[in-house]
Amino acid sequence: MANNENNEEHNSKEPQEKPVISDETLESIVRKFQDSFTGGNKQHKFWETQPVGQFKDVGNSGLPEGPIEDPTPLSEVKQEPYNLPSLYEWVTCDMDNEETCAEVYNLLTNNYVEDDENMFRFNYSKEFLGWALRPPGYFKSWHIGVKVRASKKLVAFIAGVPARIRVRNEVVSMAEINFLCVHKKLRSKRLAPVMIKEVTRRVHLENIWQAAYTAGVVLPTPITTCQYWHRSLNPKKLIDVGFSRLGARMTMSRTIKLYKLPDSTVTSGFRKMELRDVPAVTRLLREYLAQFVVAPDFDENDVEHWLLPREDVVDSYLVESPETHEVTDFCSFYALPSSILGNQNYSILKAAYSYYNVSTKTPLLRLMNDALIVAKKKDYDVFNALDVMENEAFLKELKFGPGDGQLHYYLYNYRLQNAVKPSELGLVLL
Ligand SMILES: CC(C)(COP(=O)(O)OP(=O)(O)OC[C@H]1O[C@@H](n2cnc3c(N)ncnc32)[C@H](O)[C@@H]1OP(=O)(O)O)[C@@H](O)C(=O)NCCC(=O)NCCS
Repeated sequence: MANNENNEEHNSKEPQEKPVISDETLESIVRKFQDSFTGGNKQHKFWETQPVGQFKDVGNSGLPEGPIEDPTPLSEVKQEPYNLPSLYEWVTCDMDNEETCAEVYNLLTNNYVEDDENMFRFNYSKEFLGWALRPPGYFKSWHIGVKVRASKKLVAFIAGVPARIRVRNEVVSMAEINFLCVHKKLRSKRLAPVMIKEVTRRVHLENIWQAAYTAGVVLPTPITTCQYWHRSLNPKKLIDVGFSRLGARMTMSRTIKLYKLPDSTVTSGFRKMELRDVPAVTRLLREYLAQFVVAPDFDENDVEHWLLPREDVVDSYLVESPETHEVTDFCSFYALPSSILGNQNYSILKAAYSYYNVSTKTPLLRLMNDALIVAKKKDYDVFNALDVMENEAFLKELKFGPGDGQLHYYLYNYRLQNAVKPSELGLVLL
């Protein structure tokens, strides 16, 4: 079996992933090859009816970029919710309410995304959900639950939040759709399409006609396909829980040494972001994101919400020049633990996910190494990053190993003439 460059083999990873590329057997290569065909030929009874790029249109340069369907007058948007099977009812989840937040948390903790081998399951914290679902201008009506009529038990969820996303030169009002989850006992009953249609209806009622979302599964049609990379911070635990494997000819102690990080950050002027930094960070980020084909259009309110540090939810650091006091660089990550399923010794994997990073003066490599150092200090076990934006420039060098999963990005009711490269994508969805 081949190793990655760090002499460490990742086995099963975390939610959303498939076999490691560097670890491929002939069988898995053949399977991927077949999948790449069936991905395009497989029937999508639901998605074929939706205004999304269809596989049959891939490569058809006659189709224009932009909205696929025009908005309809609001009075023509269906006013009543879609029908659910009679045992179930729609609820709007009030995320200000702790009990409701706990219900959503419990549904997701027990039923949300798992890796292919069912070793790990995303465990978004309540605080994280409160943050992710209530950005500036959010709509309560977009936090949609399905309950059993009789018992009032929450059995499914889907959520949207508003965002302005720029596609090339056009800033488009969109919904970011996330946290689609159906209880394990209710799977494969075509509930997901009803939930997607219902959230779409409620988005339309706010006069918004486009959406962005990600998924580990192939649907019609990704605007790009990204790969996760993982940087071990606590290699012994990662190996003990089966997240990674000891590389060939590697001992545990050599592996621990390989991933060791300094105790403190090295860049002078590197510090935690504060409220007073919001204007400077917004300027830095806006200028930086302008180079990507698809990226959020953040204003100061967005930056305050999405990037101001929140304990165990999101963390941001910047470099303030000791001489000029100018903010020159920025890095951030969010906290998304996974439950470790069926391990005697550990129940939670602490993972940090790279969010938005901007380097203008501090080399990106040094900036991200400092991000790794603070993440290690905060006791994260692993630091994850997608190959979006300029991340490829530091991944291998900083001893990230490629993960075994892909994350596909999608737009709803917006056609891009060609798929973009991960490095042309300036958007990270939670
Ligand atoms: C994703 C999930 C809600 C789908 O529900 P399900 O019971 O498996 O599937 P259903 O029978 O209700 O619906 C199937 C349809 O939903 C689509 N679908 C499945 N997963 C989807 C996703 N993540 N995003 C959008 N559509 C999805 C399928 O492609 C299919 O439509 P098609 O026939 O046009 O291809 C469910 O499997 C689940 O909760 N999984 C764990 C959490 C998860 O993976 N969430 C998605 C995170 S991106």
